[in-house]
Amino acid sequence: MRSVVGLTKFVMGTNLVGASLSLLYLFWFSSSSAEASVSYDYKAITIDGQRRILISGSIHYPRSTPEMWPDLIMKAKEGGVDVIQTYVFWNGHEPSRGEYNFEGNYDLVKFIKLVQQADLYVHLRIGPYVCAEWNFGGFPVWLKYIPGMNFRTDNEPFKYEMQKFTKMIVQMMKSEKLFQSQGGPIILSQIENEFGPVEYEIGQPGQVYTDWAAKMAVAQGTGVPWVMCKQDDAPDPIINTCNGFYCDYFYANKPYKPKIWTEAWTGWYTEFGGAVPHRPVEDLAFSVARFIQKGGSYVNYYMYHGGTNFGRTSGGPFIATSYDYDAPLDEFGLLRQPKWGHLKDLHRAIKLCEPALVAADPIVISLGPRHEAHVFKSNSGACAAFLANYDTESFGKLPFANMHYNLPPWSISILPDCKNTVFNTARVGAQSSQMKMTPVSVNGKLSWEAYSENGGSFDSSFSMVGLLEQINITRDVSDYLWYMTDVYIDSNEEFLKTGEYPVLNVLSAGHALHVFVNGELSGTSYGSLEFPKLTFSQGVNLRAGDNKISLLSIAVGLPNVGVHYETWNAGVLGPVSLTGLNEGWRDLSWQKWFYKIGLEGESFGLHSVTLSSSVEWVRESLSSQNQPLTWYRATFDAPEGDAPLALDMNSMGKGQLWVNGQSLGRYWPAYKATGDCANCSYAGEYNEKKCLTNCGEASQRWYHVPSTWLNQTGNVLVAFEELGGDPSGITLVKREIDTVCADIFELQPTLMNWKMHALRRAVTLRPKAHLWCSSHQRISKIKFASFGTPEGSCGNFRQGSCHAFHSYDVFERICLGLNSCSVTIDADNFGGDPCPNIMKKLSVEVVCS
Ligand SMILES: *[C@@H]1O[C@H](CO)[C@@H](O)[C@H](O)[C@H]1NC(C)=O
Ligand SMILES: *[C@@H]1O[C@H](CO)[C@@H](O)[C@H](O)[C@H]1NC(C)=O
Ligand SMILES: *[C@@H]1O[C@H](CO)[C@@H](O)[C@H](O)[C@H]1NC(C)=O
Repeated sequence: MRSVVGLTKFVMGTNLVGASLSLLYLFWFSSSSAEASVSYDYKAITIDGQRRILISGSIHYPRSTPEMWPDLIMKAKEGGVDVIQTYVFWNGHEPSRGEYNFEGNYDLVKFIKLVQQADLYVHLRIGPYVCAEWNFGGFPVWLKYIPGMNFRTDNEPFKYEMQKFTKMIVQMMKSEKLFQSQGGPIILSQIENEFGPVEYEIGQPGQVYTDWAAKMAVAQGTGVPWVMCKQDDAPDPIINTCNGFYCDYFYANKPYKPKIWTEAWTGWYTEFGGAVPHRPVEDLAFSVARFIQKGGSYVNYYMYHGGTNFGRTSGGPFIATSYDYDAPLDEFGLLRQPKWGHLKDLHRAIKLCEPALVAADPIVISLGPRHEAHVFKSNSGACAAFLANYDTESFGKLPFANMHYNLPPWSISILPDCKNTVFNTARVGAQSSQMKMTPVSVNGKLSWEAYSENGGSFDSSFSMVGLLEQINITRDVSDYLWYMTDVYIDSNEEFLKTGEYPVLNVLSAGHALHVFVNGELSGTSYGSLEFPKLTFSQGVNLRAGDNKISLLSIAVGLPNVGVHYETWNAGVLGPVSLTGLNEGWRDLSWQKWFYKIGLEGESFGLHSVTLSSSVEWVRESLSSQNQPLTWYRATFDAPEGDAPLALDMNSMGKGQLWVNGQSLGRYWPAYKATGDCANCSYAGEYNEKKCLTNCGEASQRWYHVPSTWLNQTGNVLVAFEELGGDPSGITLVKREIDTVCADIFELQPTLMNWKMHALRRAVTLRPKAHLWCSSHQRISKIKFASFGTPEGSCGNFRQGSCHAFHSYDVFERICLGLNSCSVTIDADNFGGDPCPNIMKKLSVEVVCS
């Protein structure tokens, strides 16, 4: 399959009699800029025979709105990205078997065409298994219930459905001419996803399945290469690729395949109950430079924009609604600074090295126990060097080519001419921004109405002896399933006199459970991503005679990963028992249970604009606050301006949210984050437990409201609250820049400087501090400025022992009142050198408003 298209071209060319004609043909071909051949060799992906160093970024189309796509794509392009990578989300496209959806944020073709219009490439990861912290790993729930079904193994019903969907997507791309071989932007595809570890567990049927999947994919004849990530035995011609925080150690399984990193993790996902992970950009840049210096030629950031798990699309279970991922573009599509800017600088530095990188193999020179140089020298004279200091604590002074280079700990310097450092991974020249969430006016305060869900009414759909598995019953049309039963209590029961309530014990396969006794909430229990199962064990207020026990079992996203995760259960599988009765112990598991799928409000369609008036809402009052199982509704006008919007849900417990009938996802601020938020140093191996925030607070407090889902007036906001909360605390907020900082050494390498150097080597140019606010903001205050030896980081800078007395003046003169400004880092600008012969830097923080 390699170079199928290139080969066709060549054969056609030589078939035309005479060299001049074939030259003519080739000339016509390349100037048409239509079809191009994509192939690969041991160094790189080749496009029209040219080896390319490619920077890619994951943006998952359903995790934002179509109105956001052009801006996200442009910001990726400005950030130095060449390729947009996305999965294809089967369960979004085929919600019922044979019924397809390619509308709205599932308009895959539109998304790819927007990428094409921006002149970027696409890597299409068809899967159709995607993992992705997405509900059921991207598989439709109906797939599980096809007779004889086993996911992701040598299973005929599965292979039939997988092939059918893969074929359909490939046909759709072909008919829209979206493969590069047809003149489209898609240069790579992916079949399956991280299957290697599963194959390792299940053995032979897994190997058979891998071979089948590879052959099936190649047979689609897309004209572009396929990859299989985390699949060491990927059969030719498929390229096996790496996913991880670091991939420099990785090599493809054949010497003629390039070294590709399909997922360079920019951060990590947030789960309800977990702290929020962050990956310092110094370490991310270090890992990418390390990959490139060892011959890597393709890096994809997972995620470049993480976005939002709208509706009930998050998997896990327990994956939060925000899929921010600490990506270079934040959940709302704003630049995360300095991450975005520092990676942009890295990409420019790498691109300056491209001629040497694609032409030569690295020569590794040891410069000390923890110091190394990787040098790429081409026959045509190009030379690029990467100098590395792997020490996590000490600066390094590296001797290289008759010079000495100073490197911070855990960093790599890039020298595109083997002389001048244009970039160091730990020296962040890009501005940092601190963001804030500011309440906005919605034409008055949100005024709430409430509707109370009938907690544990015996309005059931059917009854059965025994306890049933939840997903089989709901087929995931709702998170909710009621299990209800009668309990008769004899008036002789001892506890009726002592007041020592009997204990109800419920074992559930997950994920959350609210227990109602005679219509009153008696307690709640829930699991976590690591332990979805739960036990409820609590005294319950039973009375003599008939009692009604109603268990509301709640799914919080279906699992997306694990060997045969499709067999994992949810719901109250029992046993359910009472202890503390005269008889000692009473098993309720095998009595008659009444079932009801979903909530009353769901069946009325209370979340929708047209149906929300089908019930009597009551004006919200103090008495209806803090009530479980309550629907709340308010209308509001859209605020002014174009800043991204969110709802602050911190006063609420757990539930779901809609605006104008569109689901904003599950909210659960009552689930506080556990974890250790103490330490964060960029130096040293990163893992997802490092650099956490939100410990002891809500894992997710703010919920993205895409502004294109709002009308100017009369927007309907609906929340369904399970536990009880205070809706008067809900506020609409906008996300904007609070302060921006620059923190730059006086002799910081900068790309611009390097280019000037190349022209006029004698002149030492000074770096500049660039500061800019959001488009509608102005710099209103200089919060901190110090040229000298300031300490701390953006948000908590402080003066060091050396400080230029006039550090503030230049910023007050040049920046105040402007949207953006630039100041050269030169002692003269700050009233002279405050401490000669000491390495100085400038730290500045300004307020945007
Ligand atoms: C689903 O439920 C039906 C009817 O209760 C039962 O026959 C079937 O075995 C269940 N399927 C699974 C996969 O649990
Ligand atoms: C934080 O850093 C200190 C000092 O380096 C160390 O003793 C401690 O174990 C670290 N804590 C965590 C959670 O890494
Ligand atoms: C918002 O406007 C659209 C059409 O512009 C309309 O269909 C929809 O009903 C409106 N929503 C509300 C809540 O008024």
